[in-house]
Amino acid sequence: MPSEHYFTPRPASRGKRQTFTTTLRGHKLRLVTEPSVFSRARVDRGTRLLVRHMEVGEEDRFLDLGCGYGVVGIVAALLASHGHVTLVDINERAVALARRNLAANNIQNAEALQGDGFAPLADRTFDVIALNPPIRAGIPVVHRLIDGSKDHLSPAGRFYLVARTKQGVLRLAQKMTEVFGQAEAVAKGGGYRLYLSRLS
Ligand SMILES: C[S@@+](CC[C@H](N)C(=O)[O-])C[C@H]1O[C@@H](n2cnc3c(N)ncnc32)[C@H](O)[C@@H]1O
Repeated sequence: MPSEHYFTPRPASRGKRQTFTTTLRGHKLRLVTEPSVFSRARVDRGTRLLVRHMEVGEEDRFLDLGCGYGVVGIVAALLASHGHVTLVDINERAVALARRNLAANNIQNAEALQGDGFAPLADRTFDVIALNPPIRAGIPVVHRLIDGSKDHLSPAGRFYLVARTKQGVLRLAQKMTEVFGQAEAVAKGGGYRLYLSRLS
C-alpha cells in the first residue's frame, strides 16, 4: 500500500481514535482525531497562532480551507455566532471528524464538505478565508489554494495564512502579495508566522 499522508483523499489506515480537550479563545473544546489526519495528537502550534489572532465578525461568512478535524472552523463558528462557517478538506476522514467535532461542540452554524480546494463551493464567496496550508502536498497545490481564495472573497474579504518560518512562509507571503497586492505580518511565535491579505 502506498504510504498515506494527511492529505490522502481516502485513508485506509486504521488506528486508535483519540480525544483531547483544549481551550481556545475562551472556549473549552472537545476534539476527536484519528490516524492519517493532520496533527492528530494536539492542536498544531501554527493553528493555535491563527486561531488566537484571526479577526472574525459576528455575522461573517467564514471558510476554513483544508480544515483537518475542524478546530479553526469550530472557533470561527463560535465567534461568528450570527454568521456561517464552511469547512472543506480533501481528506474524507478529516471531514467526517470535523462533522463529528462540530456536533460534539454544539456548533449549529457550520457545515463540513469534502473536496479538492474550491470544487465543492461553486461560486460561493466568504468574508474570511483561513488557510494553514498543506505544505507537504506541494507548492503548486498551496499556490492554487491561494489563487482560488481571491475569487472566493467578498469585496472587503480577508485571507489569513499561517506557516512555519522554516517551511517557507516568506515565499508564501510573497505569493500573497502577488495575488492580493499586499500581505501584512500580523503575528509570530513558536517558529510560525501569520499573514493577512485584504481584497480591498
Ligand atoms: C496543514 S493541514 C491543516 C489542518 C487544519 N486546518 C489545522 O490547522 O489543524 C492542511 C489540510 O489541508 C488539506 N488539504 C490538502 N490538499 C487539499 C486540497 N487540495 N483541498 C482541500 N484540502 C486539502 C489536508 O488534508 C489537511 O487537512
